[in-house]
Amino acid sequence: MLKLRKLGKTDLMISPIGLGCWQFAQGKGLFGNTWGIVGDEEVREIVRISLDGGTNWFDTAEGYGGGQSERALARALKSLAVRPEDVVIATKWLPLFRRAASLRKTIDDRLAALGGYPISLHQVHTPHSLSTTRAQMEAMADLVEAKKIHHVGVSNFSAAKMRLAHDELGRRGIPLASNQVRYSLLDRSIERNGILEAARELGISIISYSPLAQGILTGRYHENPSLIKTKPGFRKYLSSFRAKGLEKSRPVVEALREVAAKHGRTPAQVALNWLVHFQGQTVVAIPGATKAPQAQENAASQAFALTKDEMDYLDRVSAGAK
Ligand SMILES: NC(=O)c1ccc[n+]([C@@H]2O[C@H](COP(=O)([O-])OP(=O)(O)OC[C@H]3O[C@@H](n4cnc5c(N)ncnc54)[C@H](OP(=O)(O)O)[C@@H]3O)[C@@H](O)[C@H]2O)c1
Repeated sequence: MLKLRKLGKTDLMISPIGLGCWQFAQGKGLFGNTWGIVGDEEVREIVRISLDGGTNWFDTAEGYGGGQSERALARALKSLAVRPEDVVIATKWLPLFRRAASLRKTIDDRLAALGGYPISLHQVHTPHSLSTTRAQMEAMADLVEAKKIHHVGVSNFSAAKMRLAHDELGRRGIPLASNQVRYSLLDRSIERNGILEAARELGISIISYSPLAQGILTGRYHENPSLIKTKPGFRKYLSSFRAKGLEKSRPVVEALREVAAKHGRTPAQVALNWLVHFQGQTVVAIPGATKAPQAQENAASQAFALTKDEMDYLDRVSAGAK
């Protein structure tokens, strides 16, 4: 039986691996075309296979196609007859060019998009906004008190902004549950910029996004560098997917392969397992998937254990990563 862990200081019990649902944006909205269109049948299969693998939570956002991802997720859960009380759903408010008042104005749209599934965690997607962190946390606290959402998180917040959000919510007796940030074996900046340390100190969970470095840590793009040219969206323009970038990440991928072979696992599974164990219970991860077998592989990454030596080895090999 998979061991669940607490999200921050809340009563929410979640699997170490959740499912990232940006991939369900249906090609719409800002960066919506990053993953092309994942049809309803595939979404259903991805969700089903994730649940089967022990994943009990899903991360979506208003910004993922203006509600397309939330709706696709809700359709899939409904068609699988999943009861609202059996899943944890995290969504996000898009603060760009908006004031905190829009949190109160848009919450019913979010709830409608989720079609009866509750918002277990509502997150401020980015600190860039026309309003202050204080005003945003006041609005979030109002939503908790109005029972529109259960818990509050932030995303892409620096250590200082995260502390501020924690303090502001604290005045209303509400814990800041999480900060969703980029964290992987190829991007360990939160270990150096104070975010991880502050999260530990305050009992805030880190939700790692892009935990597979958008596919690089699977090793697929090292095996076949021209694969990226067949993909929609902006990844093909990133230096990390070009020949030089792939050479830079190759030692980490090779180390993942080596450890994976010992466990009869894949590099992606080892990368995810490292992420959710190396920092104790603080970090959970939300890999995305465009195909059901990817989701199956990712969910199964929570069902085995790396040794301390293996985790330390990966720590050393990836220490030079960004
Ligand atoms: N808060 C934020 O600002 C923010 C930003 C980014 C993401 N997120 C969240 O984090 C989630 C995950 O991040 P992400 O999508 O950027 O990156 P990711 O999870 O590192 O990579 C996902 C992509 O990698 C490939 N992949 C995944 N598992 C695989 C496997 N087992 N084998 C082979 N390929 C696999 C798939 O793409 P291909 O098949 O096309 O290679 C998949 O779409 C998102 O869905 C979203 O919920 C949040």
